[in-house]
Parts: sequence; structure tokens; C-alpha cells
Amino acid sequence: MGTMMIARTRDLLANSLVYATLDAGLSTLSSGESLPLDVIASRLRRHARITVLTGAGISAASGVPTFRGAEGLWKQFRAEELATPEAFARDPRLVWEWYDWRRRRIAACRPNGGHDVLAVWSRRFPSFTLITQNVDGLHERAGTRGVLRMHGSIWEVACWSGCAGSPARWTDEAVPLSEIPPHCIYCGGLIRPGVVWFGEALDPEIVAKCLEATRCDVFLTIGTSAVVYPAASLIEEARRRGAYTVEINLEPTPASAFVDVAVQGSAEQVLADIDRRLEQG
Ligand code: APR
Repeated sequence: MGTMMIARTRDLLANSLVYATLDAGLSTLSSGESLPLDVIASRLRRHARITVLTGAGISAASGVPTFRGAEGLWKQFRAEELATPEAFARDPRLVWEWYDWRRRRIAACRPNGGHDVLAVWSRRFPSFTLITQNVDGLHERAGTRGVLRMHGSIWEVACWSGCAGSPARWTDEAVPLSEIPPHCIYCGGLIRPGVVWFGEALDPEIVAKCLEATRCDVFLTIGTSAVVYPAASLIEEARRRGAYTVEINLEPTPASAFVDVAVQGSAEQVLADIDRRLEQG
């Protein structure tokens, strides 16, 4: 576990256990169909150890583009030209233009109701861990405690050559960037975005904390296509360790086949509905 990569395609729905279609709106569901949400709420007891893994789908309602799917960034752009160290070495200007565009776009977005529910849960539950693949910082802006960022932050930068005078990463929230490509304030060389690119190693300390967090009672995977590893393997690991696993996504993913319950619906709507059940006790 450690290098970011995309899994090969698998049979999506082969072994789904429970599959609740909620896209028509929860209010229109019969009590039988909303049962999975009652069960999920009942699992979220005060002393349950809860771990949540989020992906781009949690930020979709805020206006942050996802990577896959009809409108996904990887439909318009090629990952190998923009999100690998080789791409940066080849054309740092092009890569930075893309990151500057994304930073401007994200800066105009606000956390949505899904981020807000998870932020409240991070304070309500004594044992709660939020792992995100997102680099947008919206969980932090919503007030979520102790976010584990597997893929870094778009609001951080690092010296491309790792010069001796510079810290490993530092925050740079300039929007737009004053120059493209931007330069290292310590050595004058190039800086790079503080994100993990394809083929790069993840921070081993973060990976260790994420793995530790799979030792939990309830594991929710929300708004991720579950095809990028090692993040996707956390779902399998949590299940292997006996967690009750829940997926919330607009559409089926490879994880739908083995989680305990796969809820098809928007993260913001489903989370609000589960939270309402928690509030009602
Ligand atoms: N609610 C729930 N799910 C949603 C919503 C929504 N409102 N909108 C979209 N989704 C789902 C999509 O169905 C899709 O399965 O979110 C998922 C987004 O998948 P990806 O775009 O692949 O995002 P993610 O899984 O986070 O990607 C992983 O890939 O390119 C890399 O480093 C990048 O961190 C990223 C990684």
C-alpha cells in the first residue's frame, strides 16, 4: 500500500447485498425502502468508532468538478498530461495553468450540507475519523476535526527540487497565482502543487493513520468512484476487520459489490436524512 493508482474495472453489481435507490427523493420512498437509512442511523451509536472516506462526489454540490463520470475532469483532460511527475517535468507551465484554474474554481465554492453534517459528526462522536481523497479543503472549511488528507492539498506547495532551505510543504492560497509557473521562495527554482500525483507515494504517516482508522465499527464511503488505490483498499480493509460498511453514491461503484449497504443517492441528501434520524433519536 502506498502508490496512487487506478484499479482495473470489475463487475460492478455482481454481489450487491442491499441496494437502495434513493434518487427519486427520500420523501417519496416507502418505509420499506428507507429501512437502510434507519439501520445506518442505528449503527451510528454515540460510542461507535466511525470512519468516513470521502471522494470528489461530496464536493459536487458545492460546484467542484469530479474526476470521473459524464462531466468529470478526466473526460476533458488527460491525467497523464496533468497529474504525474513526468507531466510536470515536461511542461510545468501547463500543469500549473490547470492547477491555477482549479484553485480559482474551488476558491469560489463553499462547503455544502454534506460537508456540514460530517463536520457536526466529527464533534458529536468521540471516535470519528474523516479520511478524504479531496484536495479542495472544503471539509476543513466546514469545521471538520482532524481530517486525514490522503492526496494532499491544492492549497499547499512544495519545492520541486526539494531544496534544503524549504519545508516539506507550505501553504500558498494566492488566487490567481502571481506568476505561472510559480517559483520557490527559498531557492528560486520551481515549486509544485502539494498534491499526490499518479505513480507517487502517499505520506506513509497518513497511510498508517488511515489504516488504523479501518479498525472501526462503522465505515462509510461517500462520493468516491472507489477505483483509485490505496484509498479504495481501505473499504475492503474495514470490511475485512469486521466494520459495518456503507456506501453513499449517485451510482454503483466496484465497492457496491461488497459493502453491507449501498445507498444510491446524493451525499448531501442522504447524509441530511441520516442526520435527521439521529436527531430524532
Ligand atoms: N453525491 C454522492 N456521490 C456523488 C455525487 C453526489 N452529489 N456526485 C458525484 N458522485 C459520485 C460519482 O458517482 C462518482 O462515483 O462521486 C464519485 C466521484 O468519483 P471520482 O470523480 O472518481 O472522484 P474520486 O473517487 O474522489 O477520485 C479519486 O482520483 O484523479 C484522482 O486524485 C484524484 O482524489 C482523486 C482520485
